[in-house]
Amino acid sequence: MKQVIEWLKANDATLVDHLARLVAVPSISTDGAHQKEIDQCASLTCDLMREAGLNNVEVLRCGNSNPYAYGEWLGAPGKPTVFLYAHHDVQPINFAQDWLSDPWTLTERDGRLYGRGSADDKGAIAVQLGAIAAYLKTAGSLPVNVKMLVEGEEEVGSGNLGSFFQQHKDKIHSDVIVVCDTENIDTGLPSITYSLRGIVSLLVEVDSGKKPVHSGLAGGLLADSALALSVILSRLYWKNGKLPVPHLYDKVRKMTGAEKRTLKRLPGDEARWREEHAVLEGVRFALEGKTHNYEQTWRKPAITIIAQEASSIKGASNQVLPHAAAIVSCRIVPDQDPDEVYQQISEVLTKDPPWGVKVTVKPHGSAKWWMTEPTGPAFSAAMAALKKGYGVKPVAIGCGGSIGFVGPLAELFGGAPALLLGIEDPKTNAHAPNESLDGGDFRKLTVSIAHLFENLGALPDGKVKAEKPEAPPEPPAPSAPAPAAAQQAQEPQEPSHQA
Ligand code: BES
Ligand code: MN
Repeated sequence: MKQVIEWLKANDATLVDHLARLVAVPSISTDGAHQKEIDQCASLTCDLMREAGLNNVEVLRCGNSNPYAYGEWLGAPGKPTVFLYAHHDVQPINFAQDWLSDPWTLTERDGRLYGRGSADDKGAIAVQLGAIAAYLKTAGSLPVNVKMLVEGEEEVGSGNLGSFFQQHKDKIHSDVIVVCDTENIDTGLPSITYSLRGIVSLLVEVDSGKKPVHSGLAGGLLADSALALSVILSRLYWKNGKLPVPHLYDKVRKMTGAEKRTLKRLPGDEARWREEHAVLEGVRFALEGKTHNYEQTWRKPAITIIAQEASSIKGASNQVLPHAAAIVSCRIVPDQDPDEVYQQISEVLTKDPPWGVKVTVKPHGSAKWWMTEPTGPAFSAAMAALKKGYGVKPVAIGCGGSIGFVGPLAELFGGAPALLLGIEDPKTNAHAPNESLDGGDFRKLTVSIAHLFENLGALPDGKVKAEKPEAPPEPPAPSAPAPAAAQQAQEPQEPSHQA
């Protein structure tokens, strides 16, 4: 292990350079205009995989998908196989004028590495390959088997990933899943994510006529589709209460008392969140009552109007508009059903249309929520690895964002544990101008993953899954305390088998 850590130190500049090369490719997947760069990024990722020492490296596709980069190292028979996931596509630049340095040139300022995709999610590629190379270039072998997949269409909803997994089920089958595409709750504070929200999006369209009509001629006579849309959307306004959608909360799993107590011990307060999210003075939070920010954003459904259009202000003229549309996006949480949520919101939007305008609602994409208990051998291995890598006791957290494949993939692998390790931090600005990755965390996560390989490789009989909770403690004592696993489940921030 010592030589592995030393190799990482000695090759630090090379690993940062790998990240710089990845960031230099504008592999934007959201606008359909960067296909060439996406192909280029997949092939660069393959080059880096070969350089790290992975075998059977290739670009794979599924249907009309963007290219996936795949590579593996299977030289540890009897040891667990680790499935590593990251994505090589990125968000567009948007607000180009707000970037302080070129988004495609990895630039260091105050210990942070700036560039589009530096943290979301090209940093993860460099981190995973760094940990792999550190073993293969020193010991010549890894303590576990690895299968590494780097996707090219995560930022557009991973539309082909489900079919990809089915198609390559045997090739990719693994015992543990490691995903680096979530957040550390604070810089330098390693965080394992044990819950993700899902998402249900709806396109709502309002039609009142077949053409725009001069508003001097017909204003006051004709139904205004833009205003009708606003009336409809206003039905979703929750003030500081629950979302006004009947039955939406019927299946929402409550946070346990222990989880709530845990939240209060995590870093973060109103001042920090206001600053982080750049909230204007005088604007209040939209929280439900006194709900804690983390409970609100991790475990409560949330509605956001992510797009709304009728006519642009630039091209405005005096017309009664015949058409208006919006995208309503709802984050969903355990144990909500995406189809039911779609129906519930759809009913609110379509009932009793103002002036009888035509309201059409269509699905606009969805992803499932995911939640697990952060306990068992794989989690302990990860907690111990993070502690070594960061020198700080890790925490287990929830996440308000969505990574739709985690649940289905874990299922496909027969209930494999999924370890979601943070690569972003509160200063990252993912999807926004001046995205950055903390340089310290970049190095600490790489070291942690190297330790994770070691810890997983050292598990007795390669067993990564938690024992079934039915197994009674032996010998059964009538007044015995609850089994360790159950205690940890109540205190998810402190799964305590640290090495
Ligand atoms: N890395 C994010 C998920 C995430 C969000 C992690 C916030 C930590 C904090 C991921 O790349 C992402 O943006 N996912 C999309 C999924 C959507 C396209 C289905 C999301 O959450 O909007
Ligand atoms: Mn993202």
